Amino acid sequence: MALQYTYSTHALPSPRTTASPPPNFPSITRRYAALRLEALLTSPKAFGSTHAIESNFTPEEWANKIWRDDAVVLVCVAHPAAESDHNSGEAPTLDGEWVGSAILRGPIPGNDYALPPDSGAPPFGSDDTETKWQMTAVFASAAHRGRGLGKLLIQAGKDYAMVQTPGLIIQRPAKARLRVLIHPDNLAVLSLYSGTGFVDVARTTGQEAYRTNGDLSSWDLKLQSLTDDLKVHWKTAKVAVVMEWLGEVE
Ligand SMILES: CC(C)(COP(=O)(O)OP(=O)(O)OC[C@H]1O[C@@H](n2cnc3c(N)ncnc32)[C@H](O)[C@@H]1OP(=O)(O)O)[C@@H](O)C(=O)NCCC(=O)NCCS
Repeated sequence: MALQYTYSTHALPSPRTTASPPPNFPSITRRYAALRLEALLTSPKAFGSTHAIESNFTPEEWANKIWRDDAVVLVCVAHPAAESDHNSGEAPTLDGEWVGSAILRGPIPGNDYALPPDSGAPPFGSDDTETKWQMTAVFASAAHRGRGLGKLLIQAGKDYAMVQTPGLIIQRPAKARLRVLIHPDNLAVLSLYSGTGFVDVARTTGQEAYRTNGDLSSWDLKLQSLTDDLKVHWKTAKVAVVMEWLGEVE
């Protein structure tokens, strides 16, 4: 019989929530690096970066991908069901197999969040009325797909933004705005986000997708790999689907 699991999601330590990296941060860094490299190896078309680039990262570069002001890394941990029954009542921890991850960039100032006007993106509120975030790099290990990990990671992103917003915005009600940019061929991800309350609001270019995902160094490498025709396509063709979700903080 296949092993049964329960799943928990966690925001990894970051300067927004913790004064300094915890003693187990080197182990957290190694585990995240292994999961991210698995994602790049098994789903090469889904992400802006590549396994070839990130497999050369130093331990310090991996640490800087987690310990940063402008984003938080979310992970999903699998706990064998027998073990979680045994520990019932205790909060789930990072102990267990890491089987999913996502990055939530933010809070993003309105000036950086804005897309070019011809994207058709709707207007958004000022930075003293709402926080703005962008989810990227959502990934579930192949052996655990179809069990709700994608939904759990998106919920973890929404929860994180909603918990952070009251400390960032004084006025009430305040809002948390989450965005994702999706390749139009990635039907699973389009369906995943529309099923979790995200609404299709605009189209923008591949270049904007890299910029807003905070992947500008990968964009430079991507450009070098493209023919002149494809460079024009990635800079001008509005192919990336832009989806947003808005949560109201009381
Ligand atoms: C996208 C991904 C994270 C989904 O993970 P998952 O844990 O299997 O997703 P869930 O079980 O939470 O599924 C939630 C919804 O996503 C959609 N979905 C997931 N897999 C799907 C598939 N193969 N085909 C169509 N829709 C799919 C469905 O709407 C599903 O809802 P339902 O279960 O009510 O039908 C996973 O397939 C993955 O890691 N893909 C490769 C990486 C990737 O493309 N990342 C996105 C970068 S933008």
